[in-house]
Amino acid sequence: MTGFVEIFEVGPRDGLQNEARAIPVAEKIALVDCLSRAGFRRIECASFVSPKWVPQMADSGAVLAGITRREGVTYAALTPNMKGFDAAMAAGADEVAIFGSASEGFSRANINAGIDESLARFRPVVAAAKARGVKVRGYVSCVVECPYDGAVSPAATARVAGALRAMGCYEVSLGDTIGRGTPEAVDAMLGAVTQEMGPDCLAGHFHDTAGRALANVEVALARGLRVFDAAVGGLGGCPYAPGAAGNVATEAVAVRLAELGYRTGLALDVLNDAAAQARAMRG
Ligand code: HMG
Ligand code: MG
Repeated sequence: MTGFVEIFEVGPRDGLQNEARAIPVAEKIALVDCLSRAGFRRIECASFVSPKWVPQMADSGAVLAGITRREGVTYAALTPNMKGFDAAMAAGADEVAIFGSASEGFSRANINAGIDESLARFRPVVAAAKARGVKVRGYVSCVVECPYDGAVSPAATARVAGALRAMGCYEVSLGDTIGRGTPEAVDAMLGAVTQEMGPDCLAGHFHDTAGRALANVEVALARGLRVFDAAVGGLGGCPYAPGAAGNVATEAVAVRLAELGYRTGLALDVLNDAAAQARAMRG
């Protein structure tokens, strides 16, 4: 195998959002700056959500203001609604992400709206982003399993992924939010989603609760996906996904991809420094 595979670093957002300790802004900035030096093209480092829902992300504006921007790196932020989008633009986010769910239960728990209502809320965000020339990424959570509703059908995931793509998302990231997906279930889900869109506009986002995330990355590689979200140090979890563990660790994905013969463009020594920093930030 050869070719380039991009790791989309989500540690400063997905990795840190669930930490109980109020992490000082300076530590978050230092982590993002180290990740910028490691060679990522895209780093998700902010989330403009309600501070009552996710207090750890309340200082996202200060993080974006304090980082040393490296040329060619996109600094991304979550924006669930227009309030979040406006805040992200004021803070200088380069691109934004809307985040929906393939399951009703998680959609309601995470963003206080059912699936169809959430899609309606995202439309103005995408329209406003398009008007400003800002790229929008779409997340689908619970692509195979939901902590509230149980198993999720491939068709349900394909429907929401297709809706986000049709709305104008340039890439749809498929989240195994609670990290319980088996390679067989992930493969079946990808089979359905790739009926809706090509693998070139999909990303895999695997949490590693059951230790299957790397196997799921390989299943997705075989389906043609070439972008994977990961969090340095394996940090993370979602406050509204009980039992969810961290994202798959960036450094583990980078090593596995290299073993498989793929290039990631990452400096592994700098990445290991960032992983040590990330682990030290854990409460
Ligand atoms: P809501 O309560 O329905 O919102 O929450 P609302 O519009 O009724 O507003 C209620 C209050 O929130 C108001 O404040 C608003 O101003 C405020 P009050 O008048 O009560 O003082 N508010 C906001 N404040 C700041 N920024 C905003 C914002 N919007 C409203 N953008 C809402 C709806 C979506 C806001 C809420 O449910 C929320 O913030 N949810 C975010 C949950 C979250 O961040 N989850 C983690 C990220 S998703 C994830 O981790 C999964 C992923 O990694 C993929 C995977 O693993 O599957 C992406
Ligand atoms: Mg996640």
